[in-house]
Amino acid sequence: MEIIWYHPSQSATAWIRGLQQRLPQARVRAWQPGDEGPADYALVRSPPAEMLRGRATLRGVFALGAGVDEILKQLEQHPGMLPDSVPLYRLEDTGMARQMQEYAVHSVLTWFRRFDDYQLQQQQACWQPLPPYARETFTVGILGAGVLGQSVAEGLKPWGFPLRVWSRSPKTIDGVTSFAGRDALQPFLQGTQVLINLLPSTPETINLIDQHFLAQLPHGAFFLNIARGAQVVEADLLAALESGQLKAAALDVFQVEPLPEAHPLWSHPRVTITPHNAAVTLIDEAIDYIARAITQDQAGETPQGRVDRQRGY
Ligand SMILES: NC(=O)c1ccc[n+]([C@@H]2O[C@H](COP(=O)([O-])OP(=O)(O)OC[C@H]3O[C@@H](n4cnc5c(N)ncnc54)[C@H](OP(=O)(O)O)[C@@H]3O)[C@@H](O)[C@H]2O)c1
Repeated sequence: MEIIWYHPSQSATAWIRGLQQRLPQARVRAWQPGDEGPADYALVRSPPAEMLRGRATLRGVFALGAGVDEILKQLEQHPGMLPDSVPLYRLEDTGMARQMQEYAVHSVLTWFRRFDDYQLQQQQACWQPLPPYARETFTVGILGAGVLGQSVAEGLKPWGFPLRVWSRSPKTIDGVTSFAGRDALQPFLQGTQVLINLLPSTPETINLIDQHFLAQLPHGAFFLNIARGAQVVEADLLAALESGQLKAAALDVFQVEPLPEAHPLWSHPRVTITPHNAAVTLIDEAIDYIARAITQDQAGETPQGRVDRQRGY
């Protein structure tokens, strides 16, 4: 079995060593331009088109992340880069769910306990206890109820906030209210005090979070974006922060990354920024997951995490 690997910025060493250990029957190599040798599986992040082109005998391509928007965009830009018959898989959880829980719990508690307000007060040496929020109306609404959205809902449960999710299909999750489809978006947003975005970036969700969208939240709501920057119209987000429609935002992802130095989001007093690392790919967990999937595929079973290319996630 031949496996080719490509990542634009990571060293191949740990990946190849780990894959060889878990799949001793495989030969794993870092793909280099010009390599047209045989391959049964490809493990990729932002692969050059020539790496995959013409490889109709591949049994699977594994994206080295949870989101596949980048590779689907590449496939659109380079027709024929990967035959439709080749299954595309993504990483499900592999340690990212816990990282997302940490980020979301931290942000929600910061806002609920008004630590953001106290941080601003401290800059003025201002000693002023503020009225607390009521837990029973501090509703957290999660856009997306997939692997990561559901995990974040689970992570927030111990804190007792009302929880709701919005997805395409209805969900049954103990202690969480499910809203499904476009018709349910308005009631979902109207009752959401803290909005957490965990949607995949697809043609349907790009620029979804705009002025009209944000205006449906209660005045003074909070926004956490840990999915993709392309889903948010940043000028509208800034306007919502200026008007007080949004009280604060924590942002991990942006339309342009790295966020340009002169971007007004950097200096907004109510915005917290992290450099697109809300949940990073953990190599050992990812290798375990991919090795398991390849073993299942070799045994004629269907591995988890197959992407529906038409749907876009
Ligand atoms: N910032 C970071 O560090 C980072 C790290 C990892 C992942 N991410 C992002 O997180 C995203 C979510 O990951 P995941 O593993 O949870 O994905 P997932 O399991 O595929 O879940 C996606 C969820 O979004 C819902 N959805 C998709 N399109 C929708 C639409 N048009 N309207 C309503 N709901 C829609 C799906 O609904 P159904 O359940 O009905 O299908 C599903 O519940 C990834 O795509 C990636 O972009 C970011």
